Amino acid sequence: MAKSSKSSPSWDIQNPQVRLAAVTIGLGVLALALGFFWLPGGKQRPSPQMVAQGKSIYEANCQVCHGPNAQGQDPSQPKGGMIGDRMLAPALNHTGHAMHHPMKDLKRVILEGGSAPESPMRAVAGRLTSDQANAVMAYFMNLWPDDVWDYYHANINK
Ligand code: HEC
Repeated sequence: MAKSSKSSPSWDIQNPQVRLAAVTIGLGVLALALGFFWLPGGKQRPSPQMVAQGKSIYEANCQVCHGPNAQGQDPSQPKGGMIGDRMLAPALNHTGHAMHHPMKDLKRVILEGGSAPESPMRAVAGRLTSDQANAVMAYFMNLWPDDVWDYYHANINK
């Protein structure tokens, strides 16, 4: 026994170098664990590729009503409303109310149209695939600032 512990003195915890290594590894693990819990919000932003794909789908299919950068058809009325007897397209950035609806509800409006029979979104229904709808949501949700993004994932889209 004594012989074998002598044959590998470098793993002896009494050895100052081994102690230093153990403390360093311990601190590293602790820092990783703390970093993990301190990540704000926790929910990752979509990948830049998905955002770019969503942006081009948005520009081709949605911008005509929801406006450039998803600011809404009339940026002075970002929550929508009526213009004559037509429904105004609301902003999809943080000035609208998209962030009050869970993703499954937003996706349903995009794929099937709004609940009102006169909703112009009904004309959009069936235009996008499920993957394209996910990408377009990634695009406009990524426009939301960090506080809106974090609140949304913690409280609305649980
Ligand atoms: C012809 C105009 C028009 C086009 C094109 C259009 N929208 Fe809309 N959209 C509207 C209007 C008007 C509303 C509000 C009425 C409603 O919710 O049905 C709306 C509502 C929405 C909502 C719900 C927002 C909320 O806060 O409740 C989402 C999400 C949405 N549109 C996404 C899209 C996406 C994505 C596209 C492109 C694939 C698109 N729209 C294309 C007019 C349009």
